[in-house]
Amino acid sequence: MIIFTEHMKTIFRHCLLLLAIAAFVGCASTPLPEAESPVAKTYVRACGSCHVVYRPEMFTAGMWRTVVDRMDREMTRRQRPMPAATKQEILDYLQRNAGTR
Ligand code: HEC
Repeated sequence: MIIFTEHMKTIFRHCLLLLAIAAFVGCASTPLPEAESPVAKTYVRACGSCHVVYRPEMFTAGMWRTVVDRMDREMTRRQRPMPAATKQEILDYLQRNAGTR
């Protein structure tokens, strides 16, 4: 039987914390899909000015439709509307790189 002392538990918790930080930093430094393409740059410019650039894998294709519609309204409300073609281009990009669950 393994007996965990308080000290071991503390070390274990610190390891978990480091792993969590490593995972987070790892995600942040992974390039976006199609990183060098014009649409990826459009996405960063249009969608990264109010908050972080969310990774396409974070949502499913269906969820992206809802999110992009909501953001479209938000941008219009703040007097910064997106051209319809830009919206469609970004939505296509997010959906073809979307997560599956
Ligand atoms: C004018 C500022 C603004 C711009 C530009 C903007 N967003 Fe947002 N976004 C917000 C705000 C405010 C929230 C949080 C409130 C909310 O969820 O409605 C948010 C939240 C989000 C979230 C969080 C998840 C969620 O369901 O709430 C995602 C994902 C997102 N935006 C994606 C996008 C995408 C994609 C674009 C580009 C099409 C974009 N945003 C452009 C203001 C903006």
